[in-house]
Amino acid sequence: MTAYIWQESWDRQQAAFMPDREERFAAMLTAVDAITDGRPPKVLDLAGGPGTITLRTLGRFPGAEVTVLDQDPVLLAIADATLAGRATIVDADLGDPAWRAKLPTDGFDAVLTATALHWLPAERVATLYGEVLEVLRPGGIFVNADHLPEESLPTLSTRLRERGRELREARYASGAATSWAEWWQRAAADERLGPKMVERERIYPTVTHHQEWTPPALWHVDALRVAGFAEAGVLWRGGTDAAVVGLRSPEKGIG
Ligand SMILES: C[S@@+](CC[C@H](N)C(=O)[O-])C[C@H]1O[C@@H](n2cnc3c(N)ncnc32)[C@H](O)[C@@H]1O
Repeated sequence: MTAYIWQESWDRQQAAFMPDREERFAAMLTAVDAITDGRPPKVLDLAGGPGTITLRTLGRFPGAEVTVLDQDPVLLAIADATLAGRATIVDADLGDPAWRAKLPTDGFDAVLTATALHWLPAERVATLYGEVLEVLRPGGIFVNADHLPEESLPTLSTRLRERGRELREARYASGAATSWAEWWQRAAADERLGPKMVERERIYPTVTHHQEWTPPALWHVDALRVAGFAEAGVLWRGGTDAAVVGLRSPEKGIG
């Protein structure tokens, strides 16, 4: 395994789904910059896979203290190899509220997550938002970028999704990108990642396993407010994807 090449191919495989993927990361990090006044931030990359947000955070903010949390043994192996000594790597299941006990620290300036929470059931996401609030410092932010359509645009959203699918298929057909299923097949054939695939199948027994659950961005904004975030809203939008943000009150105490 040459870890950074796997990291690169992961990025390409994910960008086939989200050609504007980097824009959402940049928007997140601009918000982090705005709340840290030039100080290197302390960031939690939640469900971070191979450390996608971690790498971008370290690139933009030298000296940042970053923790990446995931439960996928294959992606964590890539994270471990590319980030060793530069970030803390935590293996934990966000389905279990005990995930917080596995963190080396709390008081994060920012908890950032992308393309991940739609893998969890709705009730769990709503509860998780409250747990995230507790690991932020007062005045810290949480950003979730995911498939979060705009409720008032059902026809355009359907068309955007259909067109996105057509373009994705064209990318696969031309060899410009590897599909999700093919990427995992290739990982299974890798000498170092193959054994991790066996562990992975215990956690994720099927290739597609996430919830077919993509409520609109406003559902998340409401859930963030209910969870106790002092401010919540849409930070970024690109077609049917968006990044919602919650700001913890700068006052001490939760909320
Ligand atoms: C599509 S990947 C996105 C990874 C990364 N955020 C990125 O943008 O490249 C979704 C990630 O969510 C993680 N995930 C899903 N459910 C999880 C759970 N219950 N606990 C921890 N991680 C989870 C998966 O293991 C996977 O790494």
